[in-house]
Amino acid sequence: MTTLNNNQRPPHTVDPVTEVEGKGAATQEEEYRVNPAKALWQFFRGERARLGLSLVLFVLKHSPVWLMPVFIGRITHSIEIGVLQGDYERGLHSLLLNLVLVCLIIAQNIPSHMGFMALFSRAKRNMEACLRSGLVRRLQELSISYHGQMRSGRLQAKVLRDVESVERLSHMLVNGVVPGVLGVGFALIYTFSKQPWIGWFFVVTIPVVALLRKVFVFRIRKRNREFRRNVEMMSGRVSEMIEMIPISRAHAVEGEEIRRMDDELEHVRSRGVKLDMINAFFACANWVSFQVIRMVCLAVTSYIALAYPEKMSISDVVKYFTFFEVIIRSVQQVLNVYPMLARGFESIHSISEVLDCPDLEQNRGKRKVRDIIGEYEFQDVTFRYKDDDAPAIQDFSLHVNPGESIALVGASGAGKSTLMNLLIGFHRPTAGRILLDGRDMQKLDLRTYRKFLAVVPQETVLFSGSVRENIAFGLREVSDDRIWEALEIANASDFVTRLPEGLDTPIGEHGGWLSGGQRQRLSIARAIIRRPKVIIFDEATSSLDAVAESLVQDAIDRLIAERTTFVVAHRLSTIRKCDRIVVMKDGRCIESGTHEELMDLQGEFHRLQTLQS
Ligand SMILES: Nc1ncnc2c1ncn2[C@@H]1O[C@H](COP(=O)(O)OP(=O)(O)OP(=O)(O)O)[C@@H](O)[C@H]1O
Ligand SMILES: [Mg+2]
Repeated sequence: MTTLNNNQRPPHTVDPVTEVEGKGAATQEEEYRVNPAKALWQFFRGERARLGLSLVLFVLKHSPVWLMPVFIGRITHSIEIGVLQGDYERGLHSLLLNLVLVCLIIAQNIPSHMGFMALFSRAKRNMEACLRSGLVRRLQELSISYHGQMRSGRLQAKVLRDVESVERLSHMLVNGVVPGVLGVGFALIYTFSKQPWIGWFFVVTIPVVALLRKVFVFRIRKRNREFRRNVEMMSGRVSEMIEMIPISRAHAVEGEEIRRMDDELEHVRSRGVKLDMINAFFACANWVSFQVIRMVCLAVTSYIALAYPEKMSISDVVKYFTFFEVIIRSVQQVLNVYPMLARGFESIHSISEVLDCPDLEQNRGKRKVRDIIGEYEFQDVTFRYKDDDAPAIQDFSLHVNPGESIALVGASGAGKSTLMNLLIGFHRPTAGRILLDGRDMQKLDLRTYRKFLAVVPQETVLFSGSVRENIAFGLREVSDDRIWEALEIANASDFVTRLPEGLDTPIGEHGGWLSGGQRQRLSIARAIIRRPKVIIFDEATSSLDAVAESLVQDAIDRLIAERTTFVVAHRLSTIRKCDRIVVMKDGRCIESGTHEELMDLQGEFHRLQTLQS
């Protein structure tokens, strides 16, 4: 279902200030933070066993890296046995034995790596698919006010780009952070058990690395966040610009549009360059410091072997130098993936914004609507859009009998579409109540109620499928007869018959290959085919020619028979068959009655009628 409002907030004021339903508390995006590790753990909910097993295989496949220094030490020690101790046989034996052992350990990498990938890839891809599906579900559940505030491009970036970076984050965590931690862990445990003071030397160097990290992390995080917002903003503007092309072309303001987009692109470009420069500096500063530290380590161990040969042999120098290499590479690995981790955590935050957003329509546990008669009662209904000073609807009271057709008229901005959105349940009254068949709508499961409702919105919403797909939207297995019957009532059968492929003719993106009047009649047919008990028709403001208008008019006349109907009319001629006319002004009902009664009254309706004739 689509919102009836065509005058939504301008896109540059989109930050999601969402309202918690029923509590009225505002949750600012800035204030809202999640624990990314916890959230990621939640994302992998159904995949934890597979993930755990894959990690076991990962440790196995990665073991050659941290076992290698031990074997390098042992193989070089064979030289010491042969040359320094003069036992050539034992030296050669030790050399060959250690060579075979280390080769076996290295070779097991192939099966364990393949096993790890088979499990991990599945876990990761399943998580990705589940996350997207979760987001899609949530987007369908979030209230229409939320969608009114969020730009679709921004939400799209969340479903596509952010989920992808969470997938990359999991990849980096397992392939970058886990081996890093394992490498440092094993090297430290081994060194401490053999040569504690070398262990202490290693321990001292790790904070140096950590300090380096701290210097850069804060800035990188901040810039990543800004950059993400800029890109989302830009993607929203691009889709908006594309939608606006016919209008900007018609008004010859292409130059202005291009300039506006260029400014936006320039902003993103300069931010991107700054971000790249910081990331680059981070990487090379790391490299230089690590190389220096590495040489210092070699010098320290060599000095110990030189000054205290009884404590440390040459093979020990080689072994600990290699261990230090492992430590450095591990720390470096973690630091190198850091920017990507930061981006991934940012994306987790961005996704959680949607997944945890409380601005849902609360239907759970509410009374299901099994059938409706179509009687409505507005009791002193007031509704105010968030951030708006004046209420859009004020003390509105109206009783609608089952089967009655009500025409709503009034100047632009009088609140007609808003009133209809209240009727659909997209918004809740700020004060007062709406009763459906005597039951407060607040207490009803609105999804079940809407099954009895059909809406022809002010802005016709069609998609790029065929005529058939557009009319049967959301319904399963609809017969051609039923479609033709709906087209007949909507006065659309003639033109559909003339289309080259009849019902199967594609209608172009947003129905762009059809005329305005044709689109509107398809939209009416879509409403009729649902056999609703209540129809809401928000007439399009775009003017139709006399023929098209009379076709639409006939369709409305047929529509209002035998069911409760609300027709928002801009052309007063379209409502000649309505039972009652309600005149709205500044959100209030100022007149109501039949056409004759209102004409006799010589009030607002009379004035509007005179203006239009
Ligand atoms: N999403 C929104 N956020 C804030 N204010 C809104 C929003 N939608 C509408 N309004 C305001 O509420 C008032 C009523 O708007 P509404 O769209 O209901 O008028 P309308 O009678 O349908 O007008 P039109 O005949 O032009 O369609 C207007 O003042 C409008 O600016
Ligand atoms: Mg409107």
